[in-house]
Amino acid sequence: MQLSVIGCGYLGAVHAAAMASLGHTVVGIDVDEQKIAKLSAGEPPFHEPEFAEILRAGLDSGNLTFSTDYAAIADADVHFIGVGTPQRKDGQGADMTYVNAAVTDLLPHAKRGSLIAGKSTVPVGTAARLAEQAREVGVRLAWNPEFLREGFAVKDTVDPDRLVYGVSEETRDEDIATLDAVYSSILERETPRLVTDYATAELVKIAANSFLATKISFINAMAEIAEVTGADVTQLADAIGHDVRIGRKFLNAGVGFGGGCLPKDIRAFTARAEELGRGESVAFLKQVDEINLRRRQRVVDLVVDSFDGQPFGHRVAVLGLAFKPDSDDIRDSPALDVAVRLKGLGAEVVSYDPQAMETARRAHPQLAYADSLDEALDGAEAVVIVTEWKQFKALDPAETAAKVARPVIFDGRNILDPTAWREAGWTYAGMGR
Ligand code: UGA
Repeated sequence: MQLSVIGCGYLGAVHAAAMASLGHTVVGIDVDEQKIAKLSAGEPPFHEPEFAEILRAGLDSGNLTFSTDYAAIADADVHFIGVGTPQRKDGQGADMTYVNAAVTDLLPHAKRGSLIAGKSTVPVGTAARLAEQAREVGVRLAWNPEFLREGFAVKDTVDPDRLVYGVSEETRDEDIATLDAVYSSILERETPRLVTDYATAELVKIAANSFLATKISFINAMAEIAEVTGADVTQLADAIGHDVRIGRKFLNAGVGFGGGCLPKDIRAFTARAEELGRGESVAFLKQVDEINLRRRQRVVDLVVDSFDGQPFGHRVAVLGLAFKPDSDDIRDSPALDVAVRLKGLGAEVVSYDPQAMETARRAHPQLAYADSLDEALDGAEAVVIVTEWKQFKALDPAETAAKVARPVIFDGRNILDPTAWREAGWTYAGMGR
């Protein structure tokens, strides 16, 4: 099929390359000329495993092109919308500028009878509004939320857990047939496919992210209780996780969730529910957010306490900047936040991350960045792990002790073995253990 993908960030660029890898002819559109130039040259603008390979293969096969010109979508049967819906600068709700602009800009070029398939995470009610606008020019609209995780974006796109199609009553059969044709090779593997109305499809996405955020904050709330009772939250998570109704996944206590999705999505959902007069239904999400943000401060407090409340001038190695491993994404990153807070308190912070140094440096040029893990550790009076990169998990306590000035470590992701580190002479503190 001929496809277009509007927006070439994490979601759109991966979707475009993944659809080309499934055999479709795809054009990716973005207003950012630099991004389009990079993608056209086969250079991923962000770090994502497997993406460089499928991008290169798509370009080489001629199935995948990129453009800043909307005229390039003229032949497409389906137009995927993959632009961002960040948090509004003036509030908690989603900033819809990019989604609205994408639809308005594509419609004059879209052929009659083609289908817009929205993938961006949007406030419930958006699809119905945009469908009206599209209908005026003979274009159909479906909402087809995306559930990819950064770090697994390619795999999640070509082999998703489920497909969700939010379609209109009037063009239901045609919309389903079009999307089935796009995803035919995925559906052959009997991937569950759910057909819903617009509102349900929009809510599926925001409900899934709200549930995941709640699960993480739940275990972090347990960590807070563990901290005052001497219990170990990691063992607690293991024990409750054996109950298949609960499950062990997303029960890792630590500095909490960040990224371009969970934090802004729970805030946008709260704002939308309030607009709908149902604020009380998701009022708990405010607490989910508060618990999450408290964990960042908790690790900062632990470091400050280790200097008897006087962190000024003390060298602290902050290991991790990305919001999660296998990513260079620093949007709303707890790791970066911890570094910035410690620096703000006067500590001599030296940060290191295997991938996110460039993105972090651009956003926070005032921070000091080490060129290597060893350089970060050299002479440190406290070490703080805030992103669970495997390099940090693999640190040897004895070898690391030889590099630092004071063997004090704060395991903000609970990835180290406390006994091994203590036996090697370290003062170890985790999160709720
Ligand atoms: C999240 C969802 O997991 C995806 O399903 C969704 O498609 C995506 O948002 C989106 O809306 O686009 P992502 O932001 O890539 O994906 O990252 P997650 O793997 O969900 O991790 C989010 C944060 O939670 C990270 O900072 C991670 O360190 C933290 N986390 C995760 C924990 O603190 N504890 C856990 O047990 C799991």
